[in-house]
Amino acid sequence: MEKVIKYIKSNTDNYIKQLEDYLRIPSISTSSKHKGDLQKCAKFVAGQLKSAGMTKVKIIPTAGHPLVYGELIQDKKLPTVLIYGHYDVQPVDPIELWKSPPFEPKIKGGKIWARGANDNKGQNFVHIKSVEAFKKTGTKLPVNVKYIIEGEEEIGSENLEKFLKTNQKMLSCDAVMISDTSLFEPNVPTINYGLRGLCYMEVEVTGPNRDLHSGSFGGAVANPINVLAEMIAKLHDKNGKITIPNFYKNVKRLTPKERENYKKLKFSDAAFAKELNVPQLQGEKGYSTLERLSGRPTLDCNGIYGGYTEEGAKTVLPSKATAKISMRLVPDQDPKVIAKEFTKYIKKIAPKSVRVKVREMHGGLPIVVPLDSPAMKAAAKAASKAFGKETVFTREGGSIPIVVQFAKQLKAPTILMGLGLDTDNIHSPNEHFSLSSFKKGILASAYFLDEFAKIK
Ligand code: BES
Ligand code: MN
Repeated sequence: MEKVIKYIKSNTDNYIKQLEDYLRIPSISTSSKHKGDLQKCAKFVAGQLKSAGMTKVKIIPTAGHPLVYGELIQDKKLPTVLIYGHYDVQPVDPIELWKSPPFEPKIKGGKIWARGANDNKGQNFVHIKSVEAFKKTGTKLPVNVKYIIEGEEEIGSENLEKFLKTNQKMLSCDAVMISDTSLFEPNVPTINYGLRGLCYMEVEVTGPNRDLHSGSFGGAVANPINVLAEMIAKLHDKNGKITIPNFYKNVKRLTPKERENYKKLKFSDAAFAKELNVPQLQGEKGYSTLERLSGRPTLDCNGIYGGYTEEGAKTVLPSKATAKISMRLVPDQDPKVIAKEFTKYIKKIAPKSVRVKVREMHGGLPIVVPLDSPAMKAAAKAASKAFGKETVFTREGGSIPIVVQFAKQLKAPTILMGLGLDTDNIHSPNEHFSLSSFKKGILASAYFLDEFAKIK
């Protein structure tokens, strides 16, 4: 093990160069014009898996972007870890706000700046380099390793979900290792033991059959934007609770022990507000900020459009207004059930003066995983060793919908070893990833393989 650790420590510059090559590929999964770049990126990942010593590497075509699979099975008796990640990235708009071009990685201030630096290329690369270090130093890997790196996480993982249903054996394992979440604080090793689910909806309000002059018609015809704004405002009450009937029905309450754990985590509301430059925080009454960020469900309007949004002023009473609204869910809420309740409620509160259409876009189930599995303990120990500090356990506010499917189909514990920071601007201009987290992540991953070998 010593040789492996030494090798990793002396190769970081080389790893960063390779990560830059990975980041140069504009693998934006939602945009059809980048289809070829996703293929190219899949090939890059496949090459990396070969270099890490996988004896079987496959690029698996799907109805969408390809999956990359790799495995090294040395001995059926050894425990097997399945490493998951995604090579697709989010779009880059608004491009004018990037300080350096999103697909020309730049090192500055101890960070690497590029789209995908954190989410998820930087984080999944860690688990390739750790395994590679065993091969390069002629050290026998103490476990069996499988990889599944997909190209559609940012668009809902639909094709991986289908693949998983019919290929459970291929992906069978004793634990799933994922780094696609955040550290609680810089340099604090963190295991995330929960993810929120998601229910994403679109509401379209239609008024008159065409845009109207607001002077000739205003006062007699309902304005779809006014109506939509009023409806959105009705989705929360004055205590920050969501008003959709039955919304909280299946919400598992935070246990006293859990609330105790949240309290133990050091967190400053003032510093949080200051970093975001908001005058004050807000949210559901009766819960701390940390609880509201990951242990409670939320509803947010993600986009709203209609009427005149170009330069200057135009007096118009628009024909249509649309809003995209998403809800983050916690166990045991089900996005399908929530979508139905949302639709029913929206239709109920819509005034008779307009027509309303509600569309369900996509969703994912929430999850909380047990903290006491041997794999989890091995991961906590490994992260501690790499960061030189005690590992903390937190729930994550974001979503990775495939994780629930892994739990259901593979019946193996999932380990979410977050390495990013919530301030890394994922999905936003100027995404970045700390090089110190990158280096420590590779070490933590290597230590994990060593610790994980001891569980069987
Ligand atoms: N890496 C994120 C998940 C995440 C978000 C982790 C925030 C830590 C903090 C993942 O790539 C992601 O963006 N997930 C989407 C899921 C959606 C597209 C179904 C999300 O959470 O919005
Ligand atoms: Mn993402």
